[in-house]
Amino acid sequence: MHEESPIRYDEDRECWDVFRYDDVHDVLHDPETFSSERPLTAQGEGETDGMALETMLNTDPPRHDELRKVVDDPFKPGAVKHLAPHIRDITNEYIDAVVDDGELDVVADLATPLPVTVIAELIGVPADDREQFKQWSDTIVEGPEAATVSAETVKEAQLQAQAEMATYFTELIERRREDPRDDLISDVIHAEVEGTTLSEGETLGFLALLLIAGNITTTNLITNAIRCFATLPDGIESVRDIASLELAVEEVLRYQSPIQAVSRVATTDTQLGGHSVEAGDRVVVWNGAANHDGDKFDDPGTFVPDRSPNQHLAFGSGVHFCLGAHLARLEARVALSTLFDRFETMQLAETELQPVESTFLYGVQRLPVQ
Ligand code: HEM
Repeated sequence: MHEESPIRYDEDRECWDVFRYDDVHDVLHDPETFSSERPLTAQGEGETDGMALETMLNTDPPRHDELRKVVDDPFKPGAVKHLAPHIRDITNEYIDAVVDDGELDVVADLATPLPVTVIAELIGVPADDREQFKQWSDTIVEGPEAATVSAETVKEAQLQAQAEMATYFTELIERRREDPRDDLISDVIHAEVEGTTLSEGETLGFLALLLIAGNITTTNLITNAIRCFATLPDGIESVRDIASLELAVEEVLRYQSPIQAVSRVATTDTQLGGHSVEAGDRVVVWNGAANHDGDKFDDPGTFVPDRSPNQHLAFGSGVHFCLGAHLARLEARVALSTLFDRFETMQLAETELQPVESTFLYGVQRLPVQ
């Protein structure tokens, strides 16, 4: 793909596809030419997000930078580091709940509930509402559960989930206005951007983004890690002997990137890798493909658990570089090391795995291990 057609126009999807590392990197670092802004009515039609509200993800600088500043601090490495013992406790609880069965579905039993619980706690969502939250966020990102529904039904279900989530948050925001706590909701409500507090739409967008962006992505990171480790000659747990878990998680991010693509819109006529892109054209950058570009990575088709350096683009790059990258890395490292502590040996219980149904997410629906 990189050599044969590094950039191509897809007539059916009406967008450019960009695969080469350097081109993906260039697009992501030029928000003036390749904008993240989209008309709100078109939200959800794009391949890379289903958000209908204005968020930092779909604004450009300087507005983007102002919005991002509101929540940057709680996601910095120093701030998330102290969550490790708590993440370990939660992981142990999820393992305890199933350990007697002798089999654990990494997706359903651990990698799905863990990120929801962690982010919902940080945001300030009460524990009783978290299962409902998981369902809303999955529907918004992936569509409803039934595999055979039409595109129209998917759209309808997504809009309904967005509306329900918005109503829920509106009520919670009211409660926090009167009774602020030490949580992200309270931070966002009281933040000032360009001298004014955020509108209701912006506040809602913020919270919905934080909740949605990190769930299925972190689920897939943890799950993909087990899948990658299972390909090693000495099995899954051999990772702890041959590499630092830190490097191994980075290599999982490169090798099986949980988000495969993000999209932009050209703001002006421009040249990209020798092609003429016109103002208004949609440009889909395949960071998952860029992470397999042989010009950037030696032997890109091999999972090398101690690969270093490893400048993958799994969290994007440039101004929209993933806000939750440090949190996601921490969750993955803690979840995996806890699993290794609890299971002396581990192997895949099934080899026929069903991929997550999505063009831009990379993961599997179930991953039983024993
Ligand atoms: C942005 C991937 C986890 C919150 C992004 C982007 C990517 C990404 C590729 C860039 C989007 C773009 O350029 O348009 C991932 C992956 C994750 C993960 C692979 C897990 C393995 C999280 C978590 C959070 C989060 C846990 C929780 C807070 C965000 C936000 C943005 C973002 C808020 C938008 C940042 C901005 O626009 O400045 N993520 N993400 N992500 N991510 Fe993540």
